[in-house]
Amino acid sequence: LKGTWISSLCILLGRHNSYMGQDNHTSVSEFLLLGLSEKPEQQLLLFGIFFTMYMVTMIGNLLIILAIYSDSHLHTPMYFFLSNLSFVDLCQISTTMPKMLINILTHNKAIPYAGCLVQMYSFHLFGTMDSFLLAVMAYDRFVAICHPLRYATIMSPRLCVLLVGGPWGITNLQSVVHTSLMAKLTFCADNKIPHFFCDLMPLLKLSCSDTHINELVILIFGIFMGISPLVCILLSYICIFCAVLRVPSAKGKWKAFSTCGSHLTVVLLFYGTIFAVYLQPSGPTSPQKDKAAAVMCAVVIPMLNPFIYSLRNRDMKSALRKLISRTSSQ
Ligand SMILES: *[C@@H]1O[C@H](CO)[C@@H](O)[C@H](O)[C@H]1NC(C)=O
Repeated sequence: LKGTWISSLCILLGRHNSYMGQDNHTSVSEFLLLGLSEKPEQQLLLFGIFFTMYMVTMIGNLLIILAIYSDSHLHTPMYFFLSNLSFVDLCQISTTMPKMLINILTHNKAIPYAGCLVQMYSFHLFGTMDSFLLAVMAYDRFVAICHPLRYATIMSPRLCVLLVGGPWGITNLQSVVHTSLMAKLTFCADNKIPHFFCDLMPLLKLSCSDTHINELVILIFGIFMGISPLVCILLSYICIFCAVLRVPSAKGKWKAFSTCGSHLTVVLLFYGTIFAVYLQPSGPTSPQKDKAAAVMCAVVIPMLNPFIYSLRNRDMKSALRKLISRTSSQ
C-alpha cells in the first residue's frame, strides 16, 4: 500500500514539474510557513514546548507498540488495532512537528512546493486514518460485548487485516484526490502560509485560480469521511449500551463496560475537539483560533492517546511494567 501511494505521489509531482515548464504563472517554487507566532522572543518558548510534546508523543506511542508486541497476552485484535492507532499517531505528528521545529531553529520559514504537498497528503492520510481506526475499535468492542461467544470466529485474522487495510485504501484515495487537485492550482506572488504546516484550507486561500471544484471535493469527502466512522462508532455504542443494560448485576455491568472505557475517552476527546472547532457559532474565524484547533488535532490528540490507554487499562499497565523491567535488567 505504501508503495502505491508513494508512486502515485511521484507521478503527481512529476506532472506538476512539467506544468511549471509550460506555465510561467506558477511562479511559486516554495512556501513560507509563518508558524504559530512570528514574535522573535516567543520562538525559544515555542521550540521548548513543542519539542517536549513531540518527544513525549514519540516515546509514549513507541512504548505502547513495543509493549503490545512483546506481551503475548496482548496479541488480540483490540491491541493490534491500538498499536495501529499508536503507529498512525506517530506518523501524524511526524508530518508536521519536525519541519516546524527545524524551521524555528534555523530561522528559516521556507518549505519547498513538493514538500508542502507531501505534508498535506500525509497529514490528511493519517488524520483520517485515526478516525477510521477509532471506528474499527468501536466495532471490535461491539463484537466483544454483544457477541462474546462468537468473538474469536468473527474477528478472524483475515477480517482484522481487512478492517485495517480497507481504511488505508480509502484514506489514500482521499489524499491522492486532494493532493492532485491542489497540484493543478496556480499560485501567484503570495506564498506566505499563516500556519505551522501546509494544510488544505490555508493553501486554497493562497491560490489565485478558481478553487470551487477543490472546495466541493473537500466538502464531499469531508462529509463521507467524517460521517461514516462516526455512524459506525455511534451504532456500536448504542448496541453496547443496550447489551450492558441487560446485564443483571451492577458489578457485571461495570465489568462489561470497563473494557470500553479507554476507547470511549479517546472517541470523546477526538470528536469533542472536532465539534468544538468546526461547529462553533459562526463569527469571524480568527487565524489564532484556526491555529489553536490545528494544534489540538495535530499535536495534542496524538500525544494523549497513549496516556489514556496506558493509565486506564490494567493489562496495558502490566505489559508496560514488564517491558520496562526487562529493558532495565539487561
Ligand atoms: C495493525 O493491525 C494488523 C491487523 O490486525 C496487524 O497485523 C498489524 O501488526 C498491526 N500493525 C501495527 C503497526 O501495529
